[in-house]
Amino acid sequence: MNVNRRKFLVLAAGVPLAVAGTYAFFRDPARAGSRDFGVPLFIPGGSGPFGVLEPKDALKFTAELGAFPLAGGKTTPFMWYRTSHRGMDYLNPILKVKTGQRLRITLANALDEGTIIHWHGLHLPGKMDGHPRDTIGPGKEYRYDFTVGNRGGTYWYHTHAHHLTASQAYSGLASFFLVEDDDEAALSKALDLQLGVTDLPLVIQDKRLNAAGEFVYVPNPMESMMGYLGDTILANLTPTPFAEIGTRLYRFRLLNGSNARIYKLAFVKGGRPLPYHVIGTDGGLLDKPYQVTEAFLAPGERLDVLLDAGSLAVGDEVFLRSLAFDPLEGGSMMGGMMGRMSNARLPSGAIFDVMKLKVTQRAGAARPMPARLSRIVPIDTKNAAVRKVDIEMARMRWLINGETYREDAYPIEVRRNTVEVWEIRNADHSMAHPMHMHGFQFQVLSRHNSPAQVRSLGVHGNGRAAGDLGWKDTVLVWPGETVRLAVDFSHDFDGDQVYVFHCHNLEHEDSDMMVNMRVRA
Ligand code: C2O
Ligand code: CU
Ligand code: CU
Repeated sequence: MNVNRRKFLVLAAGVPLAVAGTYAFFRDPARAGSRDFGVPLFIPGGSGPFGVLEPKDALKFTAELGAFPLAGGKTTPFMWYRTSHRGMDYLNPILKVKTGQRLRITLANALDEGTIIHWHGLHLPGKMDGHPRDTIGPGKEYRYDFTVGNRGGTYWYHTHAHHLTASQAYSGLASFFLVEDDDEAALSKALDLQLGVTDLPLVIQDKRLNAAGEFVYVPNPMESMMGYLGDTILANLTPTPFAEIGTRLYRFRLLNGSNARIYKLAFVKGGRPLPYHVIGTDGGLLDKPYQVTEAFLAPGERLDVLLDAGSLAVGDEVFLRSLAFDPLEGGSMMGGMMGRMSNARLPSGAIFDVMKLKVTQRAGAARPMPARLSRIVPIDTKNAAVRKVDIEMARMRWLINGETYREDAYPIEVRRNTVEVWEIRNADHSMAHPMHMHGFQFQVLSRHNSPAQVRSLGVHGNGRAAGDLGWKDTVLVWPGETVRLAVDFSHDFDGDQVYVFHCHNLEHEDSDMMVNMRVRA
């Protein structure tokens, strides 16, 4: 509770945190933005809250209750992972590792309830993955020791406490996990990108806050069924933020860290969406940049994008906006109930701004965007078995192939070193579900019977949008839609491995829209 209180107060006053290292995005926070978007965006530094940590030694992460000052002077009770490394203190550090690096992290539970860390998107043995059945009680420890085999990219980590994931993640137990490889290094070099300056991790969340500045997490039964929406949009925990930029290229590593809200993201200048480029998805860089003007981002997903501010002028303002869309919630029946029973003042599919970018400086000559980013080898599905995965609701519960979570049941069993094609079909009277697989990245093969607002973005073959390309661990499946995936269950861990497959709407997950997935050796 007494952690770095002074630093927090500094942050609360809207002044950049005094940090070691070179991470500083906005140079002059005193030049405030417009009245509406006038709070400097919180940019992770080299230590402190969300400080970038490049682990050299073993780490101890203590999950504990603290207080984080959101802008406006309110101090919000917060759950975080506290750690220190080589004389520096961190809260919810942004871990930055290299492909092939070994990581040793001991989780110590100083909460008064169970917890466990899941490494979202990483390819790890089941015992290292943070399966909900490995939840540890108060006062207990869990030891992680693994080698990061993933490609470079923007991953994340968060609590996966059994039946407490939603409330704990809402309270703060989550951060980024950045992996660097040669392709990532080449891109940073080619575009002169610097983490925390021109390469910005940006987590978008919606919260409910009370007058005291506390997060309010009290889902009613309808919200447990549909998902819990907030009415205060936060980017890097900053409400109504702005950031100053120069006339050059910026990389945003967008993470939807919301429990249930889906965003349709555009960069808008004077009412007109600007083109931007999708360069990466959940599992790292795409083969090349894909130009878009909007993209859906569902809970758990990441989208790496480049915004070229090179043709903008000093004084221009650009809003990162979530555009209006039809949430397609349950046809008339559930949608109507949702409308009547939810307390959300900002309904799903509403339009709102996430943050403002203010062009305040001229920058040097633009560097060209690389034509190639990485190599994506398509999974060979020639001999793949097809597995049907049906999503529907019965007796007011969301089901995966008719099942809800039972710790000792294994509704999905696959054989190691085999390739499967999954056909995930969402019922017509349903809602959009971001389906997430632990342990393995997959490739989206096709979307069928997509709603019009999804079909119109699906210009990259077989109904796929730019955000469906490359490697994925979470895929949004709309009502009535069928999404086909290819998964290669090869691994070199010993014995059977147990993971989960679940919906990343965290209220759905906690109400057991989840099944065990066992990979038989
Ligand atoms: Cu980020 Cu099991 O999830
Ligand atoms: Cu995960
Ligand atoms: Cu769901």
